[in-house]
Amino acid sequence: MDEPVLKLENYAVSFDTPQGEIEAVRGVDLSVGKGEILCIVGESGCGKTVMCRSVMKLLPRIARIKHGRVFLNGEDITDYGEKEMRTLRGNVVSMVFQDPMITLNPTIPIGRQITEAILKHKTMSRKDAKKRAFELLTLVGIDDAETRFHLQPHFFSGGMRQRCVLAVALAMSPKLLFADEPTTALDVTVATKMLDLLMDIRKKTGISIVFVSHDLGAVARIADRVAVMYAGKIVEIGTAEEVYYDPRHPYTWGLLSSLPSLAEENGELHSIPGMPPQLLAPPPGDAFAERNKYALAIDYEQMPPMFKITDTHFAATWLLDKRAPEVKPPVFLQSGSGKWKKN
Ligand SMILES: Nc1ncnc2c1ncn2[C@@H]1O[C@H](COP(=O)(O)OP(=O)(O)O)[C@@H](O)[C@H]1O
Ligand SMILES: [Mg+2]
Repeated sequence: MDEPVLKLENYAVSFDTPQGEIEAVRGVDLSVGKGEILCIVGESGCGKTVMCRSVMKLLPRIARIKHGRVFLNGEDITDYGEKEMRTLRGNVVSMVFQDPMITLNPTIPIGRQITEAILKHKTMSRKDAKKRAFELLTLVGIDDAETRFHLQPHFFSGGMRQRCVLAVALAMSPKLLFADEPTTALDVTVATKMLDLLMDIRKKTGISIVFVSHDLGAVARIADRVAVMYAGKIVEIGTAEEVYYDPRHPYTWGLLSSLPSLAEENGELHSIPGMPPQLLAPPPGDAFAERNKYALAIDYEQMPPMFKITDTHFAATWLLDKRAPEVKPPVFLQSGSGKWKKN
């Protein structure tokens, strides 16, 4: 098997704040294969963004890798500083964010911004860089690139801007793309087109994608694998089929139960009561315990290990311990709602 493009080993990231240590990422093991689309889902504040930005080393100074290691394309980049990262960012790994205007300059024509992004990394003539910029605009599905090349971002719709950002991110043909809620601000049809575009780009380029979303429903379309994150940890990970059809962690059940498309069949929406815990002082056991109606006594005391369900499917819940009472997921999840068919 090919070496993973991204590998995290027991990876932890903390912020040192005046109030104390915020444990945003708490011991994550993860790998992303070549050409794979891994979706990371979980409620807001679970550490998804911090984890991705930390790999890019795009966090403020108060953030530090507490323990663990990170490998990019086989290279141990854990201790890399700004200088080493500058050669990797764009070339090996890129990131797109929820708000395209974080990346784009509102006053400069799109074509020039993409051309500059290329010239920043590569010595080539301006003419060739321009040619490449046209190719990129076409790759991200912007028709009439000839005209649009010369327009500033404010002439573009939200969806179009996100495509331009993608063109910038893909300029140097990186091996890995972090897409952090890139569709969250878009309406459903535009978002769907964006997901299709990402799948198309993966097919054409073989790029690996880590796609972050708070919405388990929104990523069903593109996920090869899904990692569910809660309070800085991955609590369940598996192929899309495994996570959507055979979820094992009560938090995953909660996320699935609160999806409107499932509620339509079931008649009501089951939101998860309560909120994710403060990461300033995370609870000692399973961080989900206090919101979990199936919680066992041990959940309040000891962190559950990752239990293996199949070679690809793992979940960290004491319910999978052989001493635990048998607990079945909510009935409407047991049928493995046909909604989650992968296309
Ligand atoms: N700059 C920062 N300083 C201190 N804490 C932060 C900072 N950025 C994020 N955090 C904390 O890290 C945790 C995870 O945040 P984040 O990764 O943004 O969550 P998500 O992307 O899953 O919504 C949150 O508890 C948040 O308060
Ligand atoms: Mg986020």
